[in-house]
Amino acid sequence: MTTNAYNTSNTIATFNNVVKKYDMDGYAFTAIKNATCTIPKGEITFVYGPSGSGKSTFLNMLGLLDKPSAGEITLLGQNVLAMNDNQAADFRSKHIGFIFQSFNLIPVLSVRENVEFPLLRHPLSRRERKEKAEHYLAAVGLKDYLNRRLNEISGGQRQRVAIARALVTTPTLIIADEPTANLDSTTSDEIIHLMLAMQHQFDTSFVICTHNEKLINKSSRLIHIMDGILTDTGERP
Ligand SMILES: Nc1ncnc2c1ncn2[C@@H]1O[C@H](COP(=O)(O)OP(=O)(O)O)[C@@H](O)[C@H]1O
Ligand SMILES: [Mg+2]
Repeated sequence: MTTNAYNTSNTIATFNNVVKKYDMDGYAFTAIKNATCTIPKGEITFVYGPSGSGKSTFLNMLGLLDKPSAGEITLLGQNVLAMNDNQAADFRSKHIGFIFQSFNLIPVLSVRENVEFPLLRHPLSRRERKEKAEHYLAAVGLKDYLNRRLNEISGGQRQRVAIARALVTTPTLIIADEPTANLDSTTSDEIIHLMLAMQHQFDTSFVICTHNEKLINKSSRLIHIMDGILTDTGERP
């Protein structure tokens, strides 16, 4: 299948000749070079490349955390570059969930409170927030850990909390930047399998970047990245 075979209805995002340059004391370093790719809806896309290849730079633009230096990005059919900062923040909280390598949870809150946190921006009652959080925590296998503090659970369980937190707002897209880099290999496999299961159960879309080839699911889509050059053949590994 070629990239062109994806039409707008089954596409979440498109990158067209996207360039990202960082200013390094007056010298421009090009971290992403003319990236053109398509992120399909309702599946997991893996972005695979070594450390420093530009994975986080790519994901930050996809997640509206950073803007390209040139090129076009559309997300859910909308031109990302036309959004101001407030519109981008609003779009992010409605449509995008994030999962990070270092979990980025709030230590003073309980497991359930961490998952409720992104719902504070949504018009819901306390009870609705609590019920939603409990629903997604049960889905990731943590229904018996609702009132635990983060220092009372393992790294793998913390990443499960982060997955529930990403799912709780029912986003269209979940972006995971090296979600297993701080976990041992068995737990890493479990977390990837959980994300595959969650993608299926909640029909959301995931983009997961990793430098670990072993984690790439054989039936998922794969985008390679090397020295800022993306290769999206639209094919599976
Ligand atoms: N804010 C920044 N300023 C300057 N250079 C950066 C910045 N962020 C990343 N880079 C550089 O861009 C390249 C790609 O980085 P990154 O996207 O973080 O790669 P990866 O996530 O694949 O490890 C690296 O050479 C990195 O040093
Ligand atoms: Mg990175």
